Amino acid sequence: MPRPPSPATLTQLKAVVGPSGWLDAPEELAPYLTDFRHLYHGATPLVLRPRSVDEVAKILAICNQQEVAVVPQGGNTGYCGAATPDESGSQIVVAMQRLNRVRQVDADNYSMVVEVGCTLAGAQTAAREANRFFPLSLGSQGTAQIGGNLSTNAGGTAVLRYGMMRDLVLGLEVVLADGRVLSALKSLRKDNTGYDVKSLFLGAEGTLGLITAASLKLFSLAADTATALVGVDSPTHALELLNRLRSAAGEQISTFELMPRIAVQMTVKHVPGVANPLQFDSPWYLLIELGAANPHQNLTGLLTSELEDAAAAGTVKDAMLATSIAQAQAMWKLRESVPEAQRRHGASIKHDVSVPVSAIPTLIEKGTALANALAPEGEVVSYGHAGDGNLHFNLSQKPGADLPLFVSRTHPLEHAMFDLVESLNGSISAEHGIGRLKAEEFARRADPVELSVMHALKRALDPKGILNPGKVLCAN
Ligand code: MLT
Ligand code: ZN
Repeated sequence: MPRPPSPATLTQLKAVVGPSGWLDAPEELAPYLTDFRHLYHGATPLVLRPRSVDEVAKILAICNQQEVAVVPQGGNTGYCGAATPDESGSQIVVAMQRLNRVRQVDADNYSMVVEVGCTLAGAQTAAREANRFFPLSLGSQGTAQIGGNLSTNAGGTAVLRYGMMRDLVLGLEVVLADGRVLSALKSLRKDNTGYDVKSLFLGAEGTLGLITAASLKLFSLAADTATALVGVDSPTHALELLNRLRSAAGEQISTFELMPRIAVQMTVKHVPGVANPLQFDSPWYLLIELGAANPHQNLTGLLTSELEDAAAAGTVKDAMLATSIAQAQAMWKLRESVPEAQRRHGASIKHDVSVPVSAIPTLIEKGTALANALAPEGEVVSYGHAGDGNLHFNLSQKPGADLPLFVSRTHPLEHAMFDLVESLNGSISAEHGIGRLKAEEFARRADPVELSVMHALKRALDPKGILNPGKVLCAN
């Protein structure tokens, strides 16, 4: 069991990073103690901000020897409290933002090596400067760091075509609990040398090791894109359209995002600077994007004719194709601002879940019935990455509704929603991870054999339990 650090240990840790590499004044610590959603308010005696892998290795060697718990933190944009220390005041925060070099961009190999403190937007820019494309795309990309993206196996709006963060990794560098550095930073598409050890650390939320750098896959930049905002009457029609587009455009569809009318209304109302690109009213909206490296594909023509055919068949109600970059950006801004709009609107209850794409309409229909019955103070705002089966089945507090009563609905509703998701062969965490928020539900619902393998891995890699205790797995 980890224990509080002694004054001598704190002094030793400060010496590793030097005077500019640590914080311990209350006002400096404050930003590191609360998660993005303000669900958790932790405490720590010390935030360390290492600049190099060597410093991370020394920090962990000391903490392991002294049995002091460590909580890694990136951009602190996570939704499950994985990067927040607990309330004991005995866990050290290791913030990665100064470990932020782009070590290499190998354009011919379509790969780049970046350190974990790079923001996602910074990594995208580094790729673009080499005429390459890094496809992970999230609303929080200006702040979210690569380390958090790796550790939560982040998803976002391009998973349909490019997969999740796990699918974008070629190699990793990881500092193990005892301070040894696992260097698996090769940039190879083919490497069949034994177990895929690096994959253990992806989505592990810092509980098995601290990732310090990654080799990431790059792709060709799109030379032709087509973006549209489409209105449909129902999620079933949305899926009909997805199937039609998949037949017509295959891998060129990179984004297929679903939003209900209420999400669009909230965004336009609450988020300043969101231009309203809409010229039509619809119960459901889709943001669709196609992209191709070949500039002569005429994707706009393809998308237009598919949407016209879909309208003639009764699948599509209305549609607007972006005719300029600014218009496409306005459509994206509308979609990416939904979480912020929900925040400004009032309290929310969130469920980041996934089901097979074919079950999305059932999830929405049955989930809405559950929400109406179990949380009448809320209204359903179910939106997200319909193209890959991931819905943010959220609720927003109705204006004027009793806040404590609404909040008290969280657990009973979550329980019922997760039962529903399981009955549809889905997952209770699609892209936001487990963190502290879902650790108990995960322990209750996970396959016991799979869970026992996870605990065995945890014991093998972190026998003293110093790495992000209480996250993902409840107890050793
Ligand atoms: C999104 O897709 O907008 C986020 O992952 C979901 C959210 O912020 O709830
Ligand atoms: Zn999402």
